[in-house]
Amino acid sequence: MKTILITGGAGFIGSHIVRFFVNKYPHYRIVNLDALTYAGNLENLRDVEDKPNYEFVKADISFDKEIMPLFEKYRFDGVIHLAAESHVDRSISNPMEFIITNIIGTVNLLNAARHIWKDQPEGKLFYHISTDEVYGSLGEEGYFTENTPYDPRSPYSASKASSDHLVRAYYHTFNLPIVISNCSNNYGGNQFPEKLIPLFIHNIRNNKPLPVYGKGENVRDWLFVEDHTAAIDLIFHKGKTGETYNIGGNNEWRNIDLIKLLCRIMDGKLGRAEGTSEKLITYVKDRAGHDLRYAIDSGKLQHELGWSPSVDFEKGLHKTVDWYLANEEWLNNVTSGDYKKYYEEQYLKR
Ligand code: NAD
Ligand code: DAU
Repeated sequence: MKTILITGGAGFIGSHIVRFFVNKYPHYRIVNLDALTYAGNLENLRDVEDKPNYEFVKADISFDKEIMPLFEKYRFDGVIHLAAESHVDRSISNPMEFIITNIIGTVNLLNAARHIWKDQPEGKLFYHISTDEVYGSLGEEGYFTENTPYDPRSPYSASKASSDHLVRAYYHTFNLPIVISNCSNNYGGNQFPEKLIPLFIHNIRNNKPLPVYGKGENVRDWLFVEDHTAAIDLIFHKGKTGETYNIGGNNEWRNIDLIKLLCRIMDGKLGRAEGTSEKLITYVKDRAGHDLRYAIDSGKLQHELGWSPSVDFEKGLHKTVDWYLANEEWLNNVTSGDYKKYYEEQYLKR
């Protein structure tokens, strides 16, 4: 039986990966390591928590004293590393947390993997989950490929770029078997309502203003989280050691167009007259250093491993809205307490 460590498994993407691996691979023991920060929520995994091949460990990757003993105890065969501080706006107000978790935390995991695999790296894999934001900001034309030079522009993306470099350095210097993927914007259920889509669903539901940064002309390439999960499964099992794979939805939207579509969908589902939710749109001060456009060329993954995005965006958005409307208690729980303070500082003082 293989033992696979998934870090950040209580978060948005991590919880989808954990559920998928626990159900698809009953012969793997899946260990979910998560510090349960504001973004980590074990509610996300209620349906798998009693499965015999699932285990949760509360630990903080930024403390090597917590990490090394876990690697010694479990002797992991593979690592899928998602734990991170992930929200750009928070990285602008508090960069240091991003440096500590995303850089130091990743190095702690690399050191621990190196320590237990040093004699027998064959068949082992450290899979680092990263972002398209490491490549910087595109103009109107072009796509990010795996060869696009790194040009991160926010503390979040700089910390992720730094962790990517370190993962590659451990491959070249210490022969640590690694693979990296860089993905575009994910959406779907269980995403913390600080990110655009769940935040706006929550605000539309509650008739609150929809804070559009700048003119709403920034472009993102959206991918349904289950398509990202399928790509991660494929790369973990079939990806070539030492390689990088870009993952994207081939699905670019200007923020304002996406927001108007979301408003129309929500009006329909909430039984409101068409145009009601759009009236909530409020243009606010732009995000500092706001990247204009991300667009991924995922040709390498498509041609070499046969992956392609499968979920049509409008259908995926309907599914996502349905999930939040059906899980009001989840939303109420995560938007109580600290969230209120975050919201006030991020939006009401803007
Ligand atoms: P998230 O913020 O929803 O979840 C992060 C998880 O990591 C949480 O469960 C949190 O408790 C945990 N965590 C944070 N600090 C930790 C620490 N010090 N020790 C242990 N656990 C800790 O993030 P997400 O959106 O699911 O993103 C997951 C990963 O995927 C991140 O590495 C992110 O950079 C990457 N990514 C995200 C997207 C996206 O659109 N959300 C796109 C591409 C890549
Ligand atoms: O591209 C991948 C990245 O996508 C991931 O690495 C990050 O972890 C993830 O958070 C996401 O980053 P973005 O900054 O693109 O996502 P966010 O949902 O924060 O914002 C999407 C766009 O919407 C962006 O142009 C900023 C804008 N926006 C966002 C918020 C929260 C607004 O206009 N208003 C808002 O209130």
